[in-house]
Amino acid sequence: MAADFQYAPGHMIIAPSLLAGNFTRLGNETSRVGRSGAEWLHLDIMDGHFVPNISFGPAVVKAIRPLSKLTFDIHLMCARPEILLAPFAKAGANRMTVHVELGGQVTDLIWKIRALGTQVGLGINPSTPMKIAEPFLDQIDSLLVMTVNPGFGGQAFITETLPKIQQAAAWRRHRRLNFRIAVDGGIELHTAVECAKAGADTFISGTGIFEHKNLKAAVTRMRAAVNAAARAHPPNSGSKS
Ligand code: DX5
Ligand code: ZN
Repeated sequence: MAADFQYAPGHMIIAPSLLAGNFTRLGNETSRVGRSGAEWLHLDIMDGHFVPNISFGPAVVKAIRPLSKLTFDIHLMCARPEILLAPFAKAGANRMTVHVELGGQVTDLIWKIRALGTQVGLGINPSTPMKIAEPFLDQIDSLLVMTVNPGFGGQAFITETLPKIQQAAAWRRHRRLNFRIAVDGGIELHTAVECAKAGADTFISGTGIFEHKNLKAAVTRMRAAVNAAARAHPPNSGSKS
């Protein structure tokens, strides 16, 4: 929605995913990300139905919320996100992403997230055609292009998703929309650069950041790499603004 404009051309966001952090000390990990120079903390919510795995819920998000000023980016990989929206908003979510694979519920979910005062994200799995997401692009703040099949951290990046990023960037340009293009799954230095060349501006990275002892150095390196890639591959004719 126009009122929620936030896409600043050239502004890259790095969002470490807590799923790759050490679960015996989530508070520490949250604070470390806070000091890393990243803008968002990505929080993967898995319900054992939409994806074959379970992670954590609103209680954990509420517990770590006071430890960080970063944008809490809640990625709902859940079959019934409607029951979780209010609890996560209350726990301190700044942005909530639901999946376009939920079909007929998507419009309603977008409105519910908006009504709770949080930013709206829409996720799309690798095998879901982009045309399914197209009708929602003027209603969202970010499109989360999954670059692995959701459910687990540490998977290999799926190269075939790159054209979807290009398609999203082209639609955004042509329709003068403002949503961010986020990528999620198997994002490390090299794949982040490929995604930046394709038009991504928001980089969610679990293993690719947490595998490094020095999170700040890892975030700084990734930011420099995607900025350089975007400068070398500016969007053709017409800017993203
Ligand atoms: C996958 C999650 C991702 C995951 C990324 O289902 O949505 O956010 O944490 O982890 P890496 O970067 O390790 O692939
Ligand atoms: Zn995620």
